[in-house]
Amino acid sequence: MEGSVVLVTGAGSGIGRAAAGLFAERGAAVVAADRSESGAGTVAAITAAGGRAFFVQADVSVEKEVENMVAAAVDTYGALDAAFNNAGIAPPVAPIERLSSESWELSEAVNLRGVWLCMKHELAVMARQGHGSIVNTSSVAGLVGNPGGGAAYSAFKHGVVGLTRSAAAEHGRHGIRVNAIAPGLTRTGMLRHLEQHEHLDAEGAAAATPLGRVAQPREVAEAAYWLASPRSSFVTGHVLAVDGGETC
Ligand code: NAI
Repeated sequence: MEGSVVLVTGAGSGIGRAAAGLFAERGAAVVAADRSESGAGTVAAITAAGGRAFFVQADVSVEKEVENMVAAAVDTYGALDAAFNNAGIAPPVAPIERLSSESWELSEAVNLRGVWLCMKHELAVMARQGHGSIVNTSSVAGLVGNPGGGAAYSAFKHGVVGLTRSAAAEHGRHGIRVNAIAPGLTRTGMLRHLEQHEHLDAEGAAAATPLGRVAQPREVAEAAYWLASPRSSFVTGHVLAVDGGETC
């Protein structure tokens, strides 16, 4: 990825922060986007280590902010070679019959519409360039059902898979690859939030999977890196489970 320009959303924390660091370590110029100021911390860490990055504050569910984010990447670095559409939220857990419309809409806005809006503006740039690689973050909950209150999250993460495959089919002829990762339980701020507020026993759940543990963010970021990079040059429309065997 030496010399490439890579946009990462949700870059302020967890998987996005690890991925932004990894891309920068391997020579990419990174556009670290997040709706919170935490993205500035990611950029500070990258530049302190000698990498190139800048922070864009953007909410992926707001089209104008997404448009500005993509424009800032192109204006600053002159191109957009790869994008990791990773920002996501875990809405309050509730069984379907008690799920509120507000919670459904909030989850949809970030977890599905946010990915669509990012792709919409990234693909326009990449089609003009004649090349590009997009990686979206789905989840194991986008491959199988998510009983116990996570139906809305699961529905939108399945939606990310549909968007990914459709975009791959539409844009292969333009030299653009589109893939997704489907992480299992990963030790991030989101997981801590679910443990503290939704009584998730992450370690207990992970113990029942083949590898028997949760992932570290960098292990998931490595999969995103591979899919974004030319090392996966003949892979498109693929959803890579990075889940310690949870769905095997
Ligand atoms: P995290 O909570 O540590 O980081 C998510 C980042 O996204 C935060 O910095 C947050 O400010 C940002 N963000 C949230 N909403 C945003 C918005 N509307 N616009 C821009 N930025 C926004 O979470 P984590 O775990 O790193 O999650 C990254 C992705 O991985 C998410 O899509 C999540 O659904 C997915 N995932 C996480 C798993 C886990 O166990 N941690 C498992 C499967 C998928």
